[in-house]
Amino acid sequence: MQHLLTMDQFSCKDFFKLTTKADKYLKGDYKKILQGVDIATLFCEPSTRSRISYTLAASRLGANVIDLKQDYSAVQKGETITDTINTLHAMGFGGVILRHSEPGLPGRVAESVSNNLHIINAGDGCHQHPTQALLDAYTIYKQNFDFKSISIAIVGDVLRSRVARSQVEIFQTLGVKDIRLVVPKVVSLKQAKPGTQLFNNLLEGVSGVNVIIALRGQLERMNRVLAERYLAESTNFIINEKVMAYAASNVILMHPGPMNSGDEIDRSLINDKRCLVLQQVEYGVAVRMALLEMLFHVKH
Ligand code: CP
Repeated sequence: MQHLLTMDQFSCKDFFKLTTKADKYLKGDYKKILQGVDIATLFCEPSTRSRISYTLAASRLGANVIDLKQDYSAVQKGETITDTINTLHAMGFGGVILRHSEPGLPGRVAESVSNNLHIINAGDGCHQHPTQALLDAYTIYKQNFDFKSISIAIVGDVLRSRVARSQVEIFQTLGVKDIRLVVPKVVSLKQAKPGTQLFNNLLEGVSGVNVIIALRGQLERMNRVLAERYLAESTNFIINEKVMAYAASNVILMHPGPMNSGDEIDRSLINDKRCLVLQQVEYGVAVRMALLEMLFHVKH
């Protein structure tokens, strides 16, 4: 694997290879295996978790990480992202971690770069966010759930969520049979994605599930009228104690972040031991270290 662009590139075998490495990194067992490698982060949309987590992951493995600030880069003078990335490669960069609002851009860039440069998609519009999905699947794996027998409800603005799109792909790859998309009618999908079920009622959607994943409303991708209607209807989709009581007794609650506290998950649950939001963030660093090792084919 040269690049990580979409979640469907990852097989079940790849996922369990990644978990073995991430388990090791989580214990603090790592060496500077990327010493001498220069990696650039190029985030053309805001980020806290992904940008810092990738930076930490690469730095802990010994890479030299440089953040190319879009506002001060030659992109502002009209240079394309592809030309910018080829420029970075000419300077010796071995990897670029790219976030952009344009769906599919990382894939198109990857088609035109040299075969010793790695492109990692850190989120492209509504399209994909592969490492968020990997760290979410890893969080579920760490709870000792059997992917083949669990039910997962993804709640909120699924239509605009790159995270949900990548999650559905990895969950299906791992054999999850019961994936429910629980969506306010105002942003409803016309039909469920193949292999998933669509619900417009929260309590029905979470009934008996082992995992609830709450999503943020992607207001920045809605027009003003739709955003107002979404905000009004989404108050019926907040995960609170009553909602948790409809789920399985071993339910865990997750959110990829950024979270609008109180809007997607009731504040009373944020510090609940079933709520794994900060655990996801912690696992994210180990998962990204594991991914970097797999992409850079480091043998040690
Ligand atoms: N989950 C996620 O991608 O968060 P950031 O936007 O903070 O990177």
